Amino acid sequence: MSLKKKIVDFFTRKSQVVEGGGEKAIQKQKGMGKLTARDRIKAILDDGSFHEYDLFVEHKCEDFGMDKKQLPADGVITGTGTIFGHPVCIYAQDFTVAGGSLGLMHARKITKIMDHAIKLGIPLIGINDSGGARIQEGVNSLAGYGEIFYRNTLASGVIPQISVILGPCAGGAVYSPALTDFVFVVDNISKMFITGPEVIKTVLGEEISMEELGGARIQNEISGNAHFFAMSEAECFEQIKKLVTYIPWNNGKKADPFPVKPPDPTTDIASIIPEDPRQPYDVRDIIRAFSDDSDFFEIQAMWAQNIVIGFARLNGKTVGIVGNQPLVLAGVLDVDSSDKAARFIRFCDSFNIPVITLVDLPGYLPGVDQEHAGVIRHGAKVLYAYSEATVPKITVILRKAYGGGYIAMCSRHLGADFVFAWPSAEIAVMGPEGAANIIFKKEIQGAKDPDAMRQAKVQEYTEKFANPYIAAANGHVDAVIEPEETRDYLLHSLSIAIDKSELRPKKKHGVPPF
Ligand code: HXC
Repeated sequence: MSLKKKIVDFFTRKSQVVEGGGEKAIQKQKGMGKLTARDRIKAILDDGSFHEYDLFVEHKCEDFGMDKKQLPADGVITGTGTIFGHPVCIYAQDFTVAGGSLGLMHARKITKIMDHAIKLGIPLIGINDSGGARIQEGVNSLAGYGEIFYRNTLASGVIPQISVILGPCAGGAVYSPALTDFVFVVDNISKMFITGPEVIKTVLGEEISMEELGGARIQNEISGNAHFFAMSEAECFEQIKKLVTYIPWNNGKKADPFPVKPPDPTTDIASIIPEDPRQPYDVRDIIRAFSDDSDFFEIQAMWAQNIVIGFARLNGKTVGIVGNQPLVLAGVLDVDSSDKAARFIRFCDSFNIPVITLVDLPGYLPGVDQEHAGVIRHGAKVLYAYSEATVPKITVILRKAYGGGYIAMCSRHLGADFVFAWPSAEIAVMGPEGAANIIFKKEIQGAKDPDAMRQAKVQEYTEKFANPYIAAANGHVDAVIEPEETRDYLLHSLSIAIDKSELRPKKKHGVPPF
């Protein structure tokens, strides 16, 4: 065959595979408001940057009539490309081909691109749209999932791993995302569950829709499995592109610097905290007041809202921010907010992103529910994550820093490099009311007017302890600063901590309270 004919033959073969599951299946996919796998990859990557591999891989299954079934590209598209010039490895499951189900060759295409990502040290993006293990391939499908989970774990903390859920994802199709760093979902399109509605009906006799069981809102607001929520695939892809600009390619690098843009000069940072210490405020206003371009890229914004996590930039460099949110439950630490903060701190530490902690909390959330849900175990994750982290750690105490909350929120004692406090800081074992009731119990009970005595004792305690000066006098706080000085202190601290390196006792790995 002449080269010309061979090229024509190649195009014929290629066009058959590129069609995926065929026009009917593609129209069904589009009818559900979903893009095709190839269009998704194109929409995320820089124009013309996608380079596909393993287009002609075929399944090897011969059971259940599979020997007569052709599954183009075995239902998954893999390759490399760039986002704003940053290289990424990417795969997208093609639901038009056997429901994007995962057989052994499909899995091997994914593990091959994962191996590339790990060896080349570049982020991995996985677009999941799959009915899970391909039933006809039996144990081979399970083997395929196992090989993916193994690599997700090897890659953890080495390269950033991003998962996108863009369809009904069942079984193994959600466990791989659960092992990755960021999970993106889209309203009405994404569903995640281990056991679907059919199984629940059979085993438990309960009727539930896929949306109610594991829709995008459920995964953002209730389970905390997802990190980003979008109303459309287009919005989701913009979120992914933005995220990629904040994170480094791998754990040996730092995130690329960005052009420096100062925060909005009209914001009065000192006026954000209300005069009355019992009144709430939005900690995100404080973050925006000192961040470049007044921009804060929030993560898991809909879950465990009593803590806020996300990325910002200071003089063009990425920082991770953890802040108690007084607007929700007074910013207490509880089971979910502890999980949320601890995981984020570990991500930042793995990828050389300094952590800035903003403190304003009355402590851990009291109650039987929390105790029985394991607030001891979950709360300990925050202690562990901060103590373990060796990236620059800077803490700013804005207002309340009571009891265990004071210690947990990256205090000097857990290894903070710099601890600053605003004059509004109240650093004490507990709030004035609780403290006065305990230590002045006898005086209050014995007084002619117990209420007046209680008020007097609360006042006495407040004057003595509800300030940052005892902590400053003991060196637990490095400087009491004016709110307007916050950006300057953060920039200076970051600039001198740039080459920070901290050695830890040699070990294989720790045993965190997972
Ligand atoms: C083989 C599958 C498949 C699967 C879907 N298909 N899931 N083929 N194995 N797991 C095929 C269908 O037969 C159909 O093929 C096409 O994909 C589209 O599926 P539909 O059912 O028509 O689509 P829809 O109504 O949108 O429903 C999607 C779905 C449903 C919710 C995902 O297909 C479903 O429930 N699938 C099974 C989910 C599941 O239980 N998977 C196993 C999980 S266990 P045709 O030829 O008709 O177009 C697992 C083990 C690993 O993953 C666990 C690790 C911890």
